[in-house]
This record gives sequence, C-alpha cells and structure tokens, in this order.
Amino acid sequence: MASLKDEIAAKLAAVAAPDGRPLTATGKLSDIVATDGKVFLSITVDAAQVKTWEHVRRSAESAVRAIPGVQSVMIALTAERAGGGAAASAPPPRPAAARPGAPAPGQPQRPGGPAGIPGVAAIIAVASGKGGVGKSTVAINLALALRDLGLKVGVLDADIYGPSLPKLLAIKERPQTAGGTRLKPIMRHGMPVMSIGFLVEEETPMIWRGPMVMSALTQMLREVDWGELDVMVVDMPPGTGDAQLTMAQQVPLKGAVIVSTPQDLALIDARRGIAMFRRVNVPVLGIVENMSTFICPHCGTRSDIFGHGGARHEAERLGVPFLGEVPLAIEIREKSDAGAPVVASDPDGPHAESFRAIAARVREGLMAASRPAPKIVIEA
Ligand SMILES: Nc1ncnc2c1ncn2[C@@H]1O[C@H](COP(=O)(O)OP(=O)(O)OP(=O)(O)O)[C@@H](O)[C@H]1O
Ligand SMILES: [Mg+2]
Repeated sequence: MASLKDEIAAKLAAVAAPDGRPLTATGKLSDIVATDGKVFLSITVDAAQVKTWEHVRRSAESAVRAIPGVQSVMIALTAERAGGGAAASAPPPRPAAARPGAPAPGQPQRPGGPAGIPGVAAIIAVASGKGGVGKSTVAINLALALRDLGLKVGVLDADIYGPSLPKLLAIKERPQTAGGTRLKPIMRHGMPVMSIGFLVEEETPMIWRGPMVMSALTQMLREVDWGELDVMVVDMPPGTGDAQLTMAQQVPLKGAVIVSTPQDLALIDARRGIAMFRRVNVPVLGIVENMSTFICPHCGTRSDIFGHGGARHEAERLGVPFLGEVPLAIEIREKSDAGAPVVASDPDGPHAESFRAIAARVREGLMAASRPAPKIVIEA
C-alpha cells in the first residue's frame, strides 16, 4: 500500500505549475511533513511570482485535502527574496481611537511596517531573549487579565518550534475551516486562540525552514478569522536571532512586553530583546519580572531565589516602563500545567491581581503609543 506521503506526491504531480509542468517537477517543493492526518509543505518561489503561484497553492491544498485520512493541510507559499509583493493590503484605519491600540485618526499602524490585520486594533508581542523565563505563562495570563479589564482579546502562539498554548489551555481539538483556506480559531475563556500546535502533534519533530516559519506565521495571522479584537497577544519564541527579528518585522506589532527573571543572565538577554524591538521600531511597552520572589506555600516565607528587583532596575536604566512582578509560585506552575491559567482559575487570588495590574499598565502603554505626537508650534 502506498504511504500517505506517496499519495500526496501523486496528487501534487497532478497539479500544474504556471508553466504547465507538474508541480512536483518544478523543484520548488519542500519535503512533505505528514503526521497523524496533518500535512505541511511549502512552495518556494521568486518573490515577484507570488501572485501567479497563489492559485497553484490553493489547487495543491484542495488536491491533498481530498485524500482520505487527511484532516488538515497547510501549504505555504514562500518567497526567498525579501520585499516581495505578498503582503496583504492595509486595512482602512479604524475610527475608534478610544480603543487602546487603535491608531489615532490619520496615523498609520507603523510607518513602513507590515500591514495590519483587519479588525484587530493592536498586536503586542510577549518576548524575551532567553528561553524558559515564563513568556508563555505571562502571555496567556496577561491576555486573560486584559480580557478582565473589558477588552476583546485574542491569543496567537507564534512559537512555531515549541508551541505552548495547547498545553496551557488543555486544547486537544483542531481548528475547523471557515471556508476556503481560512481557519476558525478555537475559543477559550471567551478569547479566540490559535497555535501551530493545534495542527501538529506535540512530539512531531519540526524542522521548519526559515521561509516556512514565516509563512506559517503569516497564515496564522491573516488566514484565521480573528474577528474584532482590541488586542491580540502574541507569545513569541525565545531568542533574538534572525528568526525572531524577521518575525518581529512581519507582524504589525504595536508594542512588545519583555519578560525576564531577576538574575543578571536573564537580564542580559532581556536587554538584547529590547534592542531587537527598538531596531525594528516597535515600542517596548515594558518589562515584567517573572519568578520574582518565592513565597513558600507551607510557611509563607519569602525567598528571592533568583534575586529580586533586577528587572525594575534594568527597566529604569534602559528607560522603559516597569510593568510589575509575578512571584515564583507553585500554584502558577500547577495551574499552567493543568491547562487552567491562574487568572482564569483563581480570578480573586493574588496572582490574578498582579497580572491585572500588569495588564492595566500595558493598556496605558498602548494608549500612549496610539496618541499622535504633540504638534510643535513655531511662532512667527
Ligand atoms: N511565576 C511562575 N511561577 C512558577 N512557575 C512558573 C512561573 N512562570 C513560569 N513558570 C513555569 O516555568 C516553566 C516555563 O514557563 P514558560 O513555558 O511560560 O516559559 P517560556 O519563556 O515561554 O519558555 P520557552 O522559552 O520554552 O517558550 C513552566 O513550567 C511554567 O509553568
Ligand atoms: Mg514559551
């Protein structure tokens, strides 16, 4: 019996490239990744030819989707050269300037930046230079806290290499399609959420090539029915390498929240993160000190395992706002592991309170970022 990959290759061979050749003979296809009914591959073309290839991509997706046993297909069209014409056209500016991230009337999202997502007033990244400092934990709880402040919030897990959202929210189901290639996000705690992890199994080794990462991210941003959102919170992968830089450039970010633990090593990475966002003209909304102080669940004693106050000090030094502290608390880890983030599962507890205070500062920062610069009047 032919393997699923062979079946896919056979279907793709029946799809014609713009020059009439079978798609499989063009040399533009990546390896086929097929696990548990989910199929991924990319077609890499010259940036100038992206438009002529879009219908090929669609035909290839429909052909593969028709194979029995295939549950979801993502075929990404990627351009090797930067600056191609693939970006979606910019949405009209939203009139609701009172929304925290909405551009002030007449102000573009970000001059020279990527086009915004229609219906989404502000996108913020939760990032750090270092792995494991609690970005994902902060991202989901910050999103829930912003929701508690009355905002319409969505969450995008942009950690293509190690998605966290399926675990943090205990999501096992797969997103449904909303007609054509569009996907409906999964709803949790009143928020639309999306992660590449909904489409692939946790154990799947994913060797994503650079352009494919970009394309998967672009699809999750632009081909998902996010609806009307005040804020989309994006959980970024760790690091400040080229991949992160490109991502920061691809996503029309209104601001970035940097997560750090208090010790020097993490702060060095946080500094790199801040420098990265500054390079691409994304305002840094501030730093969160995570795992700030350990409060013993038995005796209530405070111990500053990683030190304390380092991030506040660093924020002052770098001239960025300090957004608040989150203690190192067993409850936070346990709730995260159980798929019930602490802001949702213990909304009246002290940790939810800390996250809401952080969320309020983030909202303030977004409002400030949206205000037009004061006019300078030169007197005659
Ligand atoms: N304040 C906290 N108190 C206790 N545990 C925490 C806290 N913040 C995060 N954790 C735990 O630390 C681990 C790493 O957190 P998380 O996955 O959020 O980090 P990350 O920065 O997103 O990691 P990665 O770089 O791998 O994406 C998780 O087990 C999480 O539950
Ligand atoms: Mg993470």
